[in-house]
Parts: sequence; C-alpha cells; structure tokens
Amino acid sequence: MPTILAIESSCDDTSAAVVRDGRVLSNVTAAQEIHVEYGGVVPEFASRAHQRNIVPTVEVALRRASVSADQVDAVAFTRGPGLIGSLMVGVSFAKAFALARNIPLIEVDHMQAHVLAHFAEDPKPEFPFLCMTVSGGHTQLVVVRSPLEQEIIGRTIDDAAGEAFDKSGKLLGLPYPAGPELDRLAGLGTPTLSFAQPDPGALDFSFSGLKTSILYTLQKKVKEDPDYVRNHLNDICAAVQDAIVTTLMNKLIAAAEQTGLHQVALAGGVSANGELRRRLAEEGRARGWQTFVPRPEYCTDNAAMIGVTATFKYELGYFADQSVAPAARF
Ligand code: KG4
Ligand code: ZN
Repeated sequence: MPTILAIESSCDDTSAAVVRDGRVLSNVTAAQEIHVEYGGVVPEFASRAHQRNIVPTVEVALRRASVSADQVDAVAFTRGPGLIGSLMVGVSFAKAFALARNIPLIEVDHMQAHVLAHFAEDPKPEFPFLCMTVSGGHTQLVVVRSPLEQEIIGRTIDDAAGEAFDKSGKLLGLPYPAGPELDRLAGLGTPTLSFAQPDPGALDFSFSGLKTSILYTLQKKVKEDPDYVRNHLNDICAAVQDAIVTTLMNKLIAAAEQTGLHQVALAGGVSANGELRRRLAEEGRARGWQTFVPRPEYCTDNAAMIGVTATFKYELGYFADQSVAPAARF
C-alpha cells in the first residue's frame, strides 16, 4: 500500500500531508496573513507566499509523519480549480519531486477532494451518499456514487456560500475572511431581522441578492438610529447567518428527498459553521439521515484530502505525466 506525499496550493493555504494506506500521518498548513490587510486574497501575493512556504511545509509534514523522502511512493497535487499562479507552485514542486525520486505523479481535483475528506477518518460514509460542498469558491450538491463518480446536481449561479458570509461580514466591518467571526457573533445574537434571497429554482443557489437586501435593510434602520449597526451587530450577524443557513438547508433537504439518499454529508470551509452543523444534526434526527461532517482541519483547504483522494486514484492506476499543467477551472 502506498505512502503518498500530497500538496495543496489552490488558494491562500500552502498545505502538505503524508498519507499511508489512506491513513493521514501528518497534515501541515501554512496560512497567509498578508491577505487580511487587503480584505481578500491577492493572487500575486498568494503565489509568492506559496513559493516561500512550500519547501518548509513539506519538510515539516515528512518529519511529523516520521517518513523520509525516499519512503514516498507517489506525489499528489491539486491540479485545480483555483488561482493559476498558486496552483503552479504546487504542480511544479510535485513534478520536480517525482522526477528527482522517479516516482509517479497523481493529479487531484480540489472539489472531488473536499468530498473525499470524509475518508480521512472514521466514521466514513458508504457509497452512494449526498454531499453539500460549501466553501469560499464553491457551493455544490453532489451525488457521490464512488470515489471518482461524483455528479453535481445543484450549484450556485453567482456567489458561493463562503463568499456570502465574507461579503456580508465586510459590509458589517468584520475582518477577512468574515465567516468564522460572523459565526461567533451570531452565537451571541438573535435573528430578529429577515433578509430576502432570490430562489433560482431546482437545486441551485443564489446568494448575490443577500448583500443588497442587507444594505437596504440597514440603510433604513440607520436613518432611524445612526448607531444601529454598532448596537445590534450580534443580532444582524445572527440574521445573516440564518438567511444563508436556511437557504443551504432547504436545498439540501430537497436534494435528499429527490435522490432518496439517507447518508448526508457536508464538506468545505463553511461546514465549520456552528449553526449549519446544528441544523444538519437536527434535520438528520428528524428525517432519519446518517450525517457526516469532517473535523474543521479537514473542512478548510488541506493536503490530507488531496492525499486521501490520491490513494483512491493510485489503487485505480490513474497517474499523470510530466506534461500535466494546472487548470484554473474544470
Ligand atoms: O474551503 P475553504 O477553506 O477555502 C476555499 O476553498 O474556498 O473555505 C473558506 C471559506 C471562507 O469563505 C470562510 O469565511 C468560510 O469558509 N468559513 C466559514 C466558517 N469558517 C470558515 N463560514 C461560516 N462560518 C464558519 N465558522
Ligand atoms: Zn477549498
């Protein structure tokens, strides 16, 4: 069984993991602080930071796993989707490592990997299962028939759920990325306001109208009380979170009913959200679902999920060659 060194560099986290026989031996992530100053990821800075971080991150991952470079059987990397300059760093590192050690290369689709993060630890879902992947870049409902047979049955037509959290938080003056802080403040408030969101129909999502709804509602309130936002920040955060989580849950319930699947999973950075986890557990109990949420370390971008996905590909004999190039979109 293989020992795989996995690299993830699709956005602003440089991550390396060692996965042996599908078991995560180490998972090390270097986050990039610089983007906080700019209120969002600056692609040029991201790729430069990956370039600085990649070698030390891999060294720490190997050391923590007590694995030496010559014990690695294959090297896996995120091919996309993501920022092209960021992906380029991980792809180039992986190619060089594979060439130097004469071992196979495995390319991994970042979105498939978020779904397969569930196989990094127990309990694991059984195929087929339903997964809602909610991150800063994507919002998808996926029927997972086998590791690599993943059918997208619903998606956002504009902003991703994480973007909805981040952009709403920015309106309220929260630091980037606003999701975790908005989650924390919402826990201290009550959702007394309500914000409108259009429904694009079927199993699709739309979040771009939320910002406009927040803006108009708050403009009206601020006219009556100039300190409204400061004095009611926790309640506003609770209302924003309620709007996003309600939309996500309504579509997830519709997808479960439509597919008849009873194993229901969350993946991606937004699955760290406390209210979303609570509502999934509540609906799960009411509807007889078996629910799965990875631990937070495996929800946000990480190389462990790349290594776990690569293990499935290794067993199926899916290898890449040295001509492989990153793909910003799939
Ligand atoms: O999966 P991820 O780490 O990166 C992408 O591939 O996008 O997701 C990052 C997103 C950000 O938008 C962040 O604000 C959001 O996940 N996020 C949260 C929470 N933790 C992270 N959103 C709401 N509540 C949280 N606790
Ligand atoms: Zn991601």
